[in-house]
Amino acid sequence: MLEIKNLTKSYGDVLALDRFSLDLKKGEVLGLLGPNGAGKTTLISILSGTLGDFTGTASFLGRDLFADRSLKNRLGVVPQDMAFYDELSAMDNLLFWGGLYDVPRAELKKRAAELLELVELSARAREPVKNFSGGMKRRLNTAIGLLHRPDLLLLDEPTVGIDVQAKVSILDIIRSVGAAGTAVVFTTHQLAEVETTCSRIAIMDRGRVLAQGTLEELVRIVGERDVVEIAGEFAAAAFSEAVRDLAGARVELLSAADGLASLAVADTAEVPRIMDRLFRRQLAVTDMKIKTPNLETVFLKLTGRSLRD
Ligand SMILES: Nc1ncnc2c1ncn2[C@@H]1O[C@H](COP(=O)(O)OP(=O)(O)O)[C@@H](O)[C@H]1O
Ligand SMILES: [Mg+2]
Repeated sequence: MLEIKNLTKSYGDVLALDRFSLDLKKGEVLGLLGPNGAGKTTLISILSGTLGDFTGTASFLGRDLFADRSLKNRLGVVPQDMAFYDELSAMDNLLFWGGLYDVPRAELKKRAAELLELVELSARAREPVKNFSGGMKRRLNTAIGLLHRPDLLLLDEPTVGIDVQAKVSILDIIRSVGAAGTAVVFTTHQLAEVETTCSRIAIMDRGRVLAQGTLEELVRIVGERDVVEIAGEFAAAAFSEAVRDLAGARVELLSAADGLASLAVADTAEVPRIMDRLFRRQLAVTDMKIKTPNLETVFLKLTGRSLRD
């Protein structure tokens, strides 16, 4: 239903999107995982029509998203910044924003009530939004994005800046929206969120999609190997140098940063060899963990960096 090809966008010298391409099928919930600065907001802004001056194409429901203005009604957007009136109640905000679409008033009221139910705000529907917590505002924003019954809902980091319970609630809402047949793309820099919420995951960094697939498909990128994570007082270059000639079919250096490195090993029997090498090079190791491959190790392998807050 959505086919993005080679989207490229620069801000001066900064290349924010670099031939970004992505496909989405009807009813999919896609988690777009990328660190800060990866280009997530730039992508959502371009798709929602608030940012221009780019190259590339996007076909949505078989038509050109950037040329066909009528497609805007088929797209719902939940931006990072809230878009509503603080003095108005939750219900009145929904009615105001819904009024911008061609929906009969009675129908609009019915939908607004249903959506307040979905985002668990029915009990607070008559209260001014200024009394709402960050999480409640985010839920209301999501309801606004759904008012005109879009075929696709885009959410830009919907769980940033709200507490844990509110995050869980937003992710539940995303799952329900997907289950009801609306396609969803949401961006995040949190691994756990895409692991639990999506039917498909795309990993992006520096304006490009590096890999996409189901969680199982992505984890296969690292393969049936264990991952050894080593922390210590070493420089990235010294670590890489120390393990260089161990590398082969049985040992692969996935990432090396100052103080933290990871390797994929065919067998944990390789671990003593690695530790011995570090010891001989006098690299101080403070912690060592053996992990089974997960999305975090996939991210490490693809970007050479860890994705931690
Ligand atoms: N208005 C802007 N002017 C200049 N650079 C920008 C602007 N907005 C974003 N960037 C840069 O573009 C890159 C991508 O940013 P952004 O799309 O906000 O990433 P994300 O949402 O994944 O954190 C970053 O390097 C960021 O600094
Ligand atoms: Mg952003």
